[in-house]
Amino acid sequence: MVAKEISLPGKLQEKLDRFQDEFWVPKERLDKIIAHFISELDRGLRDGTDPSGIPMNVAWVMEYPDGSETGDFLALDLGGTNMRVVMVHLLGNHKFTTSQHKYRLPNHIRTTRNRDDLFVFMANCLDKFVKETNPDGVPAGKIFPLGFTFSYPVTQSRIDKGILQRWTKGFDIPGVEGEDAADLMNKEIARQKLPIKIVSLINDTSGTLVASRYTDPLTEMGCIFGTGVNGAYYDRVENITKINGQLEDDIPQKSKMLINCEYGSFDNGHKVLPRTKFDIEIDDESPRPGQQAFEKMTSGYYLGELMRKAMLEGYDEGHLFIDLAKDSEGAKNLHTAYILDTSFLSTLESDETADLSDTEKEFTEKLSIATTLEERYFSKKLASFIGTRAARLSICGISAVCKKMDYKHCHIAADGSVFMKYPYFPERAAQALSDVWGYEGIKMEDHPIQIVRAEDGSGVGAAVIAALSAKRVTKGLSLGLKQ
Ligand code: BGC
Repeated sequence: MVAKEISLPGKLQEKLDRFQDEFWVPKERLDKIIAHFISELDRGLRDGTDPSGIPMNVAWVMEYPDGSETGDFLALDLGGTNMRVVMVHLLGNHKFTTSQHKYRLPNHIRTTRNRDDLFVFMANCLDKFVKETNPDGVPAGKIFPLGFTFSYPVTQSRIDKGILQRWTKGFDIPGVEGEDAADLMNKEIARQKLPIKIVSLINDTSGTLVASRYTDPLTEMGCIFGTGVNGAYYDRVENITKINGQLEDDIPQKSKMLINCEYGSFDNGHKVLPRTKFDIEIDDESPRPGQQAFEKMTSGYYLGELMRKAMLEGYDEGHLFIDLAKDSEGAKNLHTAYILDTSFLSTLESDETADLSDTEKEFTEKLSIATTLEERYFSKKLASFIGTRAARLSICGISAVCKKMDYKHCHIAADGSVFMKYPYFPERAAQALSDVWGYEGIKMEDHPIQIVRAEDGSGVGAAVIAALSAKRVTKGLSLGLKQ
């Protein structure tokens, strides 16, 4: 049986109503955010170096895949929690096969003080994978072309280079910002004498877009709603004025160029996003205050922390967990930053039991807090406000790109743990798109702009991009800025 509406004690109800107001983003505000977003996308194409703006990184993918691409490629994907190595066989005719292995990132690696830990770990995984998949040894002279998915903001002068602008998603390893991540990786590959060469360095959003476009020609954007948030799309070279005069003649003004927006940094200048006190605290307390403003309000890395902060306020004000002693384990947990991740909200949101027993268990297991039914109900509602805000804000980047490019009918390929696993996220995002684009009365599956589940971007996408680059090399075309 599903939990019913529950009436809460006056003060608790008041608090819940206040949270609802604070986290609700009405259509009018979405419109305002989108208008500012469009001007920031344009500004980034003129000059992406202002830290208050969106970088709009040029990704040097200059063709759309048409599904005919073929070849065997290795792909390496450094994600937030895992690392994946994938062998991709592109078969042409929109078809492919893959084999892959996932390796858990050791906990300390995100913030290790020694950058070698990261690159040695990645090369070790590549080595293991190649050995496992070639039990009789790699044929002499064989070099595997590798598409490296490195999903952090990078400046690329060519497709196979990428200077890290700054770490995001809680990564904080010294000695990599300002350096070429492909070069550091290639050096470790060479040191370990692996039969591998990086042919392209890509972002997860670029991979998502290209992988989905390989199978679905309606795809115009790739987006990630996960530990981080971001989007990629193709713009026209003539619009990217910051690279004016720096291109070889084989890249005409009218041709297409994939842009990795890095719009997690949208509104770092704090002009339009409706930040709550909790958002401001999260930013102030983060290793990179003032950066990734949009991401900090929408991505999976921060939702658990937002929830904890809001519950803590309810507790400190004496409305929530009223029986919880100040010196208890539970109170200590409630004061522990980042103790909760997004799965906590997911569990609460999907709890359909009459007495919210899944929620009860989650509170005991994750926080050692015993709850009343009213408190569980309050918390479930709070999770839905936070989750709904994330979904509604998330569509602002998509809407801005579609309006700017005049896309009225297309697919937005989406990936990431929040989109794939967070309850109701796709529905809420579709609702917000509908509010903005006026789809009222049209069934979700018939919406002209639809967010759809992506193909595997960091595997297939990385391979397709590597194949597109290989084609350019064969034709003698340039892969980056004028030398
Ligand atoms: C990174 C992007 C990435 C996104 C999703 C952000 O933190 O800066 O490069 O695409 O997360 O993974």
